[in-house]
Amino acid sequence: MICLTGLVGFLLVLTAEARVGNSSELDFCGETEQCLLFDLICKTNKYEVRHYDSVKWVSTDYSAISMEFIMIPSFWRLYGYITGDNNAGQKINMTAPVVMKIPKKGIFGTFTMSFLLPAEHQMNPPQPTNDNVYIQEMPAMNVYVTSYETFMITLNDKKHADTLAKALEKVSAQYEDGFHYAAGYNSPMSKKKRHSEVWYIAEGDPVCSSSNGNGQNSQS
Ligand SMILES: *[C@@H]1O[C@H](CO)[C@@H](O)[C@H](O)[C@H]1NC(C)=O
Ligand SMILES: *[C@@H]1O[C@H](CO)[C@@H](O)[C@H](O)[C@H]1NC(C)=O
Repeated sequence: MICLTGLVGFLLVLTAEARVGNSSELDFCGETEQCLLFDLICKTNKYEVRHYDSVKWVSTDYSAISMEFIMIPSFWRLYGYITGDNNAGQKINMTAPVVMKIPKKGIFGTFTMSFLLPAEHQMNPPQPTNDNVYIQEMPAMNVYVTSYETFMITLNDKKHADTLAKALEKVSAQYEDGFHYAAGYNSPMSKKKRHSEVWYIAEGDPVCSSSNGNGQNSQS
């Protein structure tokens, strides 16, 4: 039986510091010097489970019907912060990924775009001078992840979010279902191979079992 649910609790490696580090540690994160790092807990044929430590982001909210409408204005607000709209007048290096918190079903509601603060600003980030921009600390979390190699737009994001949700439901994995994150690792202009992700935050011990081929799935 390929059920690792109990086991993964013991395998969790918790590190004290925020994990923002050298992008050379991730093969899909090569356009910035620093990237958000994680511990891979397990991988099935449908998803990965990752552990992220608590890290700080700079964020902005917009209400909209889909992320296309607010990608550009959100980006410019956050770009303003990293190019000097902060109380230290400081320039801050771009990092990856850029994440977008997306309301249930991928449409209608508050969308939050966030830039990850680089390691040197994690402890004591300069305060935004734009009232619509704020510093946010995300708690440590386990995340169910699927990846795709095209643009992070509603059509692709929704397709992969729905597929991941179905896979999680099939193995009775608990997750926060009011929203998900879309994570993008490339600049819009980039000609490199794209890497985009869907994240659902795990609730309780993450489930790493595969629903395929082992005859365990009695209710289907
Ligand atoms: C990141 O890692 C690469 C390869 O190990 C190294 O050449 C580079 O100097 C590192 N960059 C930083 C900012 O530490
Ligand atoms: C920011 O990025 C520039 C250009 O890539 C680099 O030279 C510089 O060392 C970076 N600053 C920090 C604090 O890492």
